[in-house]
Amino acid sequence: MTKDSLSVTDNRTGKSYELAIKNDTINAMDLRQIKVNPDDFGMLSYDPGFKNTASTESTITYIDGAKGILRYRGYPIEQLAASSNYLEVAYLILFGELPNQAQYDKWEYDILHHTFVHENITDFMKAFRYDAHPMGMFIATIAGMSTFYPEGRDIHDADNRLRQIERLIAKTPTVAAFSYRHLRGLPFVYPDNDLSYTGNFLNMLDKMTQIKYKPNPALERALDVLFILHADHEQNCGTAAMRVIGSSETDPYSAMAGAAAALYGPLHGGANEAVLRMLVEIGDVKNVPAFVEGVKNRERLLMGFGHRVYKNFDPRASIIKSIADEVFEVTGRNPLLDIALELERIALEDDFFVQRNLYPNVDFYSGIIYQAMKFPIAMFPVLFAIPRTIGWLAQWQEMLLDKEQKIARPRQVYLGSDERDYVSMEDRK
Ligand code: SDX
Repeated sequence: MTKDSLSVTDNRTGKSYELAIKNDTINAMDLRQIKVNPDDFGMLSYDPGFKNTASTESTITYIDGAKGILRYRGYPIEQLAASSNYLEVAYLILFGELPNQAQYDKWEYDILHHTFVHENITDFMKAFRYDAHPMGMFIATIAGMSTFYPEGRDIHDADNRLRQIERLIAKTPTVAAFSYRHLRGLPFVYPDNDLSYTGNFLNMLDKMTQIKYKPNPALERALDVLFILHADHEQNCGTAAMRVIGSSETDPYSAMAGAAAALYGPLHGGANEAVLRMLVEIGDVKNVPAFVEGVKNRERLLMGFGHRVYKNFDPRASIIKSIADEVFEVTGRNPLLDIALELERIALEDDFFVQRNLYPNVDFYSGIIYQAMKFPIAMFPVLFAIPRTIGWLAQWQEMLLDKEQKIARPRQVYLGSDERDYVSMEDRK
């Protein structure tokens, strides 16, 4: 008769233990009973980078890395990218169900009518250096927003949480666009709530002297699909940071600034910027073989390749690649695409990459599209942070409502010095 348990024997003592199995996991706390001496602390699991540790149960996003599956609340990313829009997907991720028309209309109204930021925010954004990296501006401004909404600290009040969540979804495009306009030395453009969520973002980025900005429908749709693809991705580095910071019960603005800071790293959401700088450095298809040799000699990483979970293909990369053609019809083909395609061709054939399951990830092609849309490379991580806002906030809220969650405080394996006495300066060597 099968039992949902592991039987383990500690060969140091000959003792055996039964560890319960739930959802194909054991509870790490059940290891603590395994001791050699009764006053031992008990056994820990050791997992640098949390490669094999589930930090939470979740019902938001499902990924199957071997099969290249990504679903938000059970809906395949391919269907959402083809048939939905970012605000509807944001509703789905947060509330767990697709909205009916009345629910959608209210959600869209509430978001589109929270897009302005306090004038003091525009003042301090203008205080950054003229060449400040927009992601640094974004992170600092999101953190600073906690001082404008002190009631955000009341995280146990559901209505109050929703108001802060709506504010952050609504205002991140505004903050992002203001950081872009600052980088370009242009005056800030205020929101136009007649436009769609993504259309208004393009308006705040590109409006110049025209009375009414009209977004290009093909670019508006392409960007909206890119936002859908970047909305959530279960317990990635940035989301894990959101949960860890949020577990101390700080406000969502401060927690989200930390999540965005994690996303900024070139191994994570900053990879889209690193990919473009890599393609620009390669410069020509004829230089690709030499570059790939450098990667194989461990001189550098092939940015935009590899993934902790996807050991086959990243379904988002496939969709983004298909969007590229629609964008290039409007913007003209990006010559860097040829270098990217050659890199992909070689990597998919070369044992070094195949043996390590290195395939293009979400960041490999997105940057090529952003550059074709005339975004400066420094804006790319900001373009990742805008749509990921809903993922961070939905996961933050799920953590707060999870009765099993406590303040995050990992353990360590101490391998440092034993106790030793202080040595006065004159006695030191
Ligand atoms: C995102 O987690 C998420 O979900 C993230 C994300 C999201 O939506 O939130 O999907 C977004 O962050 C996508 C990833 C973007 N990052 C990059 O493109 C940067 C380049 N990729 C690598 O840094 C790396 O692939 C990671 C960080 C993405 C994954 O690293 P892992 O899982 O820790 O794998 P690893 O470092 O243990 O690599 C295994 C082997 C190693 O070689 P060996 O020592 O075993 O011989 O593969 C090698 C690595 O050196 N390797 C690479 C490589 N990625 C891994 N070698 C060359 N180029 C690479 N890109």
